[in-house]
Amino acid sequence: MARAANVFACSACGHESPKWHGRCPACGEWNTLTEERRVAAPTRRAARRALRPVALGEVEAPRIERLRTGIGELDRVLGGGLVPGSLVLIGGSPGIGKSTLTTGALGNLAADGRNVLYVSGEESAAQVRLRAERLGPGALSVPIVAETELETVLATIEAERPDACVVDSVQVLYDPSLSGSPGSVAQVREVAGRLMRSAKERGVAVILVGHVTKEGAIAGPRVLEHLVDCVLSFEGERERTYRTLRALKNRFGSTNEVGVFEMHEQGLVEVADASARFVTEATRAPGSVVLCAMEGSRPLLVEVQALVAPSELVPPRRVANGVDRNRLALVLAVLARHGGVSLGGSDVFVSVAGGVRVDEPGADLAIALALASAAKGLGLGEEVPLAAFGELGLTGELREVAHADRRTAEAEKFGLRSVVRPGDGIRTLRQALGAVGRAGRARAA
Ligand code: TYD
Ligand code: MG
Repeated sequence: MARAANVFACSACGHESPKWHGRCPACGEWNTLTEERRVAAPTRRAARRALRPVALGEVEAPRIERLRTGIGELDRVLGGGLVPGSLVLIGGSPGIGKSTLTTGALGNLAADGRNVLYVSGEESAAQVRLRAERLGPGALSVPIVAETELETVLATIEAERPDACVVDSVQVLYDPSLSGSPGSVAQVREVAGRLMRSAKERGVAVILVGHVTKEGAIAGPRVLEHLVDCVLSFEGERERTYRTLRALKNRFGSTNEVGVFEMHEQGLVEVADASARFVTEATRAPGSVVLCAMEGSRPLLVEVQALVAPSELVPPRRVANGVDRNRLALVLAVLARHGGVSLGGSDVFVSVAGGVRVDEPGADLAIALALASAAKGLGLGEEVPLAAFGELGLTGELREVAHADRRTAEAEKFGLRSVVRPGDGIRTLRQALGAVGRAGRARAA
């Protein structure tokens, strides 16, 4: 017999409890439990029978075919394109370009003769049309429905049988038979779960657009991230033109790939030669160093800028944009202890130009050199910027990082002749600073 039993679900981790708690017993977050109505399914015990396990090598491996969206950077991050029957969640803050990217992808697929569908719950069809006008004829041929009711959306997907479908966004769809307003834990979970079943049964590649909270997590329960096959994060600063797309989870590809885009009047433009862009824009002023970074499988040159200024504050300011704050704290400590550059009385700002984020220890040396250069007011590059990469250890030693040769080759490709990296004669931060200082004095003489 079906019995209604309310549960309290945590919006942070999805934990369910029969009682309300101020603090989630599972993840420890405060005020995240909300009540959900549940109808228990009638219990029926499955017939007991043993299965015969199969060696993994004998399991028939499916050949994964892919739908290429024609947006090279998106296809690369997806691992080669959209997989039919898969669910992709793409998250990002408002105005970052999620609707623009997904409309563009469907436009290309439609132009390629694929059957596509755009479900807009956020904007009216007319609003989406205005965007599509900027994106060109492919986008204008994308069929759209503006709807927020889950059953209607599912019925439309069944009737239209698209190859690829975008749902913009997962937080505005709702099932009226459930309690809770659109975007609540119960609703988001139900919406995503039902869409997933529909996607798998009909082989539709579904892209769910998701909002992110102020902290940058995709709003809604964590279970959403567990449920989908692929989680993409679209990042960047709204005021800046550069946007990066990275995979946080990918059942059909690597999570190392990063796509770089630029927002233009005519929509998002892929930046295939991001290194060239960032090198040309590098200033060569004191505080500027080009970092040879690895973004997934490809090298990327980005400019790290540092500013050091006398501080009136205790403790002084430490501002990091595009690099991890803890990484910056570590570099500052190593500089003070092992590099003879003590910035305890100064405000320190470090940022990666273009709004790009680098999240690898290989950035340490470039950050340290940029800080030392800013502190001394000495520019490191003359005709061409100075490039660097390498990890700093706590004892002031320089550590090798992966793909050193590819990083150096990328720098050479763009004419950056001096690359400071861990290697012959440069084993510590002090030696790196010495090498850079000698080159600077030689130029000055
Ligand atoms: P949008 O895709 O609507 O962002 P999201 O769906 O993530 O909220 O658009 C992001 C911004 O980009 C918006 O402020 C307008 C701007 N934009 C352009 O600059 N050029 C364009 O061609 C388009 C379509 C949008
Ligand atoms: Mg949008």
